[in-house]
Amino acid sequence: MTRTTGYYQTAHFGEEAVRAFVPHPLPPERPPLVLEGPLLALHTESMAALARLGVAGTMVPDADWFLYGFVRKEAVITSQIEGTQATLQDVLTFEATNSTENPDDVLEVCNYLDALNHARREIRSSSGLPLTMRLLKKCHQRLMRGMRGVEKRPGEIRTSQNWIGGTRPGNALFVPPPAGLVPEALASLERWIHGADPLPPLARAGLAHVQFETIHPFLDGNGRIGRLLITLLVEHWKLLPSPLLYLSLAFKRHQTEYYRRLSAVRAEGDWEGWTAFFLECVREAADDGVATARSLFSLVEKDRTRLLAKRGATVPAIRLFQALPRQPVVTLATVIQSLKTTKPTAAKAIASLVDAKILRETTGRKRDRIYAYHGYLRLLTGDEKMNRA
Ligand SMILES: Nc1ncnc2c1ncn2[C@@H]1O[C@H](COP(=O)(O)OP(=O)(O)OP(=O)(O)O)[C@@H](O)[C@H]1O
Ligand SMILES: [Mg+2]
Repeated sequence: MTRTTGYYQTAHFGEEAVRAFVPHPLPPERPPLVLEGPLLALHTESMAALARLGVAGTMVPDADWFLYGFVRKEAVITSQIEGTQATLQDVLTFEATNSTENPDDVLEVCNYLDALNHARREIRSSSGLPLTMRLLKKCHQRLMRGMRGVEKRPGEIRTSQNWIGGTRPGNALFVPPPAGLVPEALASLERWIHGADPLPPLARAGLAHVQFETIHPFLDGNGRIGRLLITLLVEHWKLLPSPLLYLSLAFKRHQTEYYRRLSAVRAEGDWEGWTAFFLECVREAADDGVATARSLFSLVEKDRTRLLAKRGATVPAIRLFQALPRQPVVTLATVIQSLKTTKPTAAKAIASLVDAKILRETTGRKRDRIYAYHGYLRLLTGDEKMNRA
């Protein structure tokens, strides 16, 4: 399939003239993108996987804690595509203690969480911003808050030429549109998102992502905001009852293909190839989500049974256990607070969960100890090898 998905325009970068790519507005045309044959079958399978994920999300004991873990895992991984080294445990430890040994990387992940939560709140609230480029700019502002290094212009659309790969536009893999054309390109993407299009919404979410990456409106953080856009569209178009689909792990596992498919849309007009790749990633992510939900569910059931069978299982210990999925890393101070109890009672509750091999001390210190529900964290970061890669 060949079609033209944009045109090149000469842009100037210092002395150098470069060919910047300006994408045609969506939808794909001449020919239009049609889901048929294997692509249609793939779409059906991905939607079925999403439906299973939706059900899995309602079957867990507390849908909120399931979401809590998933969202944090996504935040860690979407940031790791960029090279951030924070792990899920680092982030949860920071949330419990307000201190971390890895401040820059943890900040990046917390910023992503903040941006996601902000966007979801705005979209849900009647007085908030709808899913617009203005909202994505607000998200970008939160994503980049306090980041060090080169000027990243938080919340601002770029006013200069950028590029992907290479050391300057002249030797880059890809030169996005000249800055002057970015506002119109974004406006047209927004119109398409809110307009009518016969393509199924899941496929449209994939197209929107590519278009966003091709426009590359920010100086940095385009990958993270573009992946956030997918999450928000899936919620906006009600493809899932709760936002449980997170594609970053699949994109990270298939990073070379992810970049290659993005390029092929521009270079070969291959929307079909992108859509197939995207739908495969959706299916993979949804299947992963279902498997994780199942294993979390059975872990918590198994641990609960074991705890209740123990003679020393006091009421505070059981209450602490019930709170763990939502706060899987704790300290004496957080337990005193969450159980609204005294220091000795909190310490005993922790000790009894340590004894039941549910909590594990992570610091090896005598003071300021930190305890993690390690079985739960291990399941949530099943891909730990990759997470650290
Ligand atoms: N060949 C390409 N064509 C279009 N977009 C691309 C290409 N290669 C990578 N990208 C997109 O650009 C993103 C990187 O851009 P940028 O550094 O602004 O985002 P980021 O969020 O800081 O980084 P990352 O996505 O690497 O974490 C990639 O995640 C991907 O979505
Ligand atoms: Mg970057």
